[in-house]
Amino acid sequence: MIPDKVPEQDVILGSGDLKKDAHIPTFEKYKELYVNSVENPEEFWGTLAKDFFWKTKHTGQFFNYNFDVTKGEIFIKFMEGASTNICYNLLDRNVYEKNLADKIAFFWEGNEPGDDLTVTYKELLQRVCQFANVLKSQGVQKGDRVSIYMPMVVELVVAMLACVRIGAVHSIVFAGFSAESLCERILDSQCSLLITADGFYRGDKLINLKLLADEALQKCIDKGVPVKKCIMLKHLSKVPEETAGCNSPPPKRSCPDLQEKQAGKVKKIRPVPQVPWNPDVDLCWHTLISGASDECEPEWCDSEDPLFILYTSGSTGKPKGVLHTVSGYMLYAATTFKLVFDYQPDDVYWCTADIGWITGHSYITYGPLANGATSVLFEGLPTYPDVSRMWEIVDKYSVTKFYTAPTAIRLLMKFGSDPVQKYNRKSLKVLGTVGEPINPEAWQWYYNVVGEKRCPIVDTFWQTETGGHVLTPLPAATPLKPGSATFPFFGVVPAILNESGEELTGPSEGYLVFKQPWPGVMRTVYGNHQRFETTYFKKFPGYYVTGDGCRRDEDGYYWITGRIDDMLNVSGHLLSTAEVESALVEHKAVAEAAVVGRPHPVKGESLYCFVTLNDGMTFNQKLESELKKKVRDKIGAIATPDFIQNAPGLPKTRSGKIMRRLLRKIACNEKDLGDVSTLADSSVIDQLYQNRCCSAV
Ligand code: WTA
Repeated sequence: MIPDKVPEQDVILGSGDLKKDAHIPTFEKYKELYVNSVENPEEFWGTLAKDFFWKTKHTGQFFNYNFDVTKGEIFIKFMEGASTNICYNLLDRNVYEKNLADKIAFFWEGNEPGDDLTVTYKELLQRVCQFANVLKSQGVQKGDRVSIYMPMVVELVVAMLACVRIGAVHSIVFAGFSAESLCERILDSQCSLLITADGFYRGDKLINLKLLADEALQKCIDKGVPVKKCIMLKHLSKVPEETAGCNSPPPKRSCPDLQEKQAGKVKKIRPVPQVPWNPDVDLCWHTLISGASDECEPEWCDSEDPLFILYTSGSTGKPKGVLHTVSGYMLYAATTFKLVFDYQPDDVYWCTADIGWITGHSYITYGPLANGATSVLFEGLPTYPDVSRMWEIVDKYSVTKFYTAPTAIRLLMKFGSDPVQKYNRKSLKVLGTVGEPINPEAWQWYYNVVGEKRCPIVDTFWQTETGGHVLTPLPAATPLKPGSATFPFFGVVPAILNESGEELTGPSEGYLVFKQPWPGVMRTVYGNHQRFETTYFKKFPGYYVTGDGCRRDEDGYYWITGRIDDMLNVSGHLLSTAEVESALVEHKAVAEAAVVGRPHPVKGESLYCFVTLNDGMTFNQKLESELKKKVRDKIGAIATPDFIQNAPGLPKTRSGKIMRRLLRKIACNEKDLGDVSTLADSSVIDQLYQNRCCSAV
């Protein structure tokens, strides 16, 4: 399946340095290991597992699974019976066995330049233990779910690993989600505790996180399921009096009085967040840790105990709680990190994702820490205070491996090469992308301008569900084709199916599926195993269905062509059309809504919404703003529609199904609609063209 020979590309395979020390230095080596990983998974993963600490060895079968719904329930069990603790592997082992106590785990870089700090492995371990004891003192036990809604601060890593240390299951909700989204996720995963922060800045904009958290908690009360406690970190509030009931000051940052320091730089003194305080529910992070011991025995967990839940959009509109378990995820995140970025001990690695997404889980927290790596943890934006920020940070910390999203690359590309070339970037060795297909133009810019043709680009295809990279180049081994995620990672067996579920061979295009599990694949949808089976295994029995389209070229390279379900990818974030539609129809003026993706030069796709109004309602700018706000409040700013069009009628089949294919063409002003024979009333089409949003040319 992996070709014997790969074509000679005009792309360089990384610098000579990379090849000399690389874990997988050649394509031949990759192929040899790949075959072994697929044919002898026990030997392949068993060898890698030796690098971790196991309290007890596995009993029973090493890798036991059923991937075929026609043969019974889907299950995946990896190293069942073995017990370990991920936090112990990520921290204690690095501190006590690998001599990395004083190695920097994170260079934290705040939103404001100059606001930064470092944390070593030893310090991280102490802080995690302290907070683990806090969680225990609040009654959190093994298996309990804890919701985390925090900005990109070191304490977010502390909170998640503290959960892991005591066997609790974290459910992190990206801090850009709305109160309603947070409430929905808290209720679905039945969290008893919420951890949040007072607020944070995204560029110039203050996000009052505690206000949003409180709103979410009120919604939980309204639904009859109150959350018992909410722990709040003071991230921006500087003095105790500012937060009634939270009287311990936060620990000093390296830039203790940010406002003063920046007075010369930032014109106005920044307001601090509003922090309402409910003494029955709210607890102060700093007060709690001040009395907590920094030693905490880890809770030994079975390989298949739940590790975390992370929500991802589902085509029904209700997010799915993707559940990952302990050992398989740990091994997979650690191994993909090591091999895909060709991690070396002196690397400084930087992944720009937010920990609220899977990329941040696997490639800021779990993968890098499992390898004893030093990472940059960045709170800010690529464009703040200016569009050179990323490259300034690369030089500041001498970043060697850099991982970002195509949307960020396209955004920065607009400003040309000067802002990049202001900084030297000589430290960079490997560049990575994730989240959506990267267009060749952006790939070339990333390769030529950012990496100055020295750095291979690893275009990593994967999903929240896959736990880690599944199709990806290895930087010293794989000849690259711009825009292709190239070949499968170890243990992963892709196939391309046609509509009838037949496997296609050779060059072909169709549904991307996987034929057997790998250790990091999700185990279930939390609380709804049936939905797990229906979503991923029903359409083509015997396969895991990704929901992505894929092409295999004549050289055997895989090219992701994008989602082929009702999902949209806006700036690398998946949204379901149903989710946005249901937010729109909640507005009293809207009778029906249909949402499609429209190509966008920076975001990849933007939301174009068609709304049919109720009788007597008028479409105007005020309504348009209200509808945008409605979606933002319901889901979060990432889901804000770019266009809302008045659609007195929607194109439907005779059976009443909305023909989104036509709406996509109308949104793009494409006149060739293809086959319209199934359209019930063709008169709506002209009207839809006439009503197109003027700015959407
Ligand atoms: C898309 C993000 C093309 C894809 C890690 C997938 C990509 C969805 C790539 C998962 C890539 C991710 N090339 N498409 N390199 N990486 N995708 O769950 O559609 O947020 O199904 O996980 O992003 O998004 P998720």
